[in-house]
Amino acid sequence: MLLSQTLCLCLALALSYAAPTIHDVMMADHDHNHHEDQAHHKANPDRCDGIEFDAIVPDENGHTFFFKGDHLWNGFKGPAQVSSAFFKELDNYHHLGHVDAAFRMHNKEKPEKHDHIYFFLDDKVFSYYNHSLEEGYPKDIQLDFPGVPSHVDAAVECPKGECNSDSVLFFKGEEVYNYDIATQSVKEKQWAHLPNCTSAFRWLEQYYCFHGHNFTRFHPVSGEVNGVYPKDSRHYFMSCPNFGHGGEANVPKCSEVTLDAITSDDSGKTYAFTGHNYMRLDTHRDGKHTFPIARTWKEVTNGVDAVFSYSDKIYIIKGDQVYIYKSAAPSTLIEGYPKSLNAELGIEGPVNAAFVCADHHIVHIIQGQKMLDIDLSATPRVVASEAPLPISGIEAGMCSRDGVKVYVGSEYYHYETPRLLAFSKMLQEPKTITPDMMRCVE
Ligand SMILES: *[C@@H]1O[C@H](CO)[C@@H](O)[C@H](O)[C@H]1NC(C)=O
Ligand SMILES: *[C@@H]1O[C@H](CO)[C@@H](O)[C@H](O)[C@H]1NC(C)=O
Ligand SMILES: *[C@@H]1O[C@H](CO)[C@@H](O)[C@H](O)[C@H]1NC(C)=O
Repeated sequence: MLLSQTLCLCLALALSYAAPTIHDVMMADHDHNHHEDQAHHKANPDRCDGIEFDAIVPDENGHTFFFKGDHLWNGFKGPAQVSSAFFKELDNYHHLGHVDAAFRMHNKEKPEKHDHIYFFLDDKVFSYYNHSLEEGYPKDIQLDFPGVPSHVDAAVECPKGECNSDSVLFFKGEEVYNYDIATQSVKEKQWAHLPNCTSAFRWLEQYYCFHGHNFTRFHPVSGEVNGVYPKDSRHYFMSCPNFGHGGEANVPKCSEVTLDAITSDDSGKTYAFTGHNYMRLDTHRDGKHTFPIARTWKEVTNGVDAVFSYSDKIYIIKGDQVYIYKSAAPSTLIEGYPKSLNAELGIEGPVNAAFVCADHHIVHIIQGQKMLDIDLSATPRVVASEAPLPISGIEAGMCSRDGVKVYVGSEYYHYETPRLLAFSKMLQEPKTITPDMMRCVE
């Protein structure tokens, strides 16, 4: 519980569409003097001074560690601490001056390795799970990763789907080594346009190369850089005074959260929409985050009225328009869209909420106190049935395995099926939104 709260990060909306800003709202302010008594270690570094990280890696619980010299930062906010307090054997084997690189293994084929953190120090690799060193480690790097050189600069995991297969990208100078985990084969690439990365980090399915106090987002297969880079890490991956986030990063009270729309796609990604922003709700391992809607769905620049997912696509309704996007990243607008609601679904806007239940072809559209059912497998699409609803003021709705939830203000109603929502004679008690559901505080 505490863990998910301290990982509750958010976005300073004013800054950028291209990369998330982080501001860990639940933790205390900077405390630079924590370990001053540990005299044999160098003075505590301050990441707001603009330092270059040696490595950045999340653990199996989604805690992100930033390494510099013999220190680390646990999370996006807070003081530096001595690394060996968290990963003690790193110090035993080498007098730990620094870590070269680290990544979190993504290997569903070998559950005994999945989610282990691999650290690279000179010519050795260390494997940790649950903050304990795995037996048999450290090892020579090439015993576990044949073809990968010693003294690497950076490493980052790249799961199948984002890369062609479960892979690890190693960086050394201008060389990139694409290591295929299953076949243990290595492809060397040169991404000359990318700066030399001293650490690399995968965060919310995006890839970041850190260099100096800057970072550059890149595509893990092509190496392509889109957008204006480099950016200063202090604006995004940590919370620093004078790299101000002002008040915009405040987390709302749950009792003040109101949704415009909510949906879950076939792959389980769940999105809640409010104003110009959306929140991913299924990313507990990386924290819950808010992003501008237009960061993911470029053409949707003015908020949404209703969103539903159907057959690998996401339908976004705003006013009289429907935008249809492919769900798979990156979200691309289907050619010919937006179209009018009338042309697509045979109804007039505006719409308050819309949802489809898995394996059904019916979209349930809520308009005022009515529910319209439209068969998405029929052409032309027309309203097949219409039912009055017992609840008014519904603004968002979603159907999942555990039934239908419709949201009215900061409360929601839960029904087992759309039919019960329309025809149940029992008046439901509303439930309140809680911090484990959304990014909000009680
Ligand atoms: C993780 O480590 C702690 C203490 O080091 C131990 O109590 C716990 O059982 C371990 N958990 C797992 C899943 O191995
Ligand atoms: C990148 O690394 C290569 C190889 O180590 C080095 O020759 C080059 O100067 C580096 N580039 C920068 C910008 O540091
Ligand atoms: C960081 O990026 C800025 C541009 O955004 C650039 O002017 C500066 O030289 C970069 N600094 C380092 C250390 O890479």
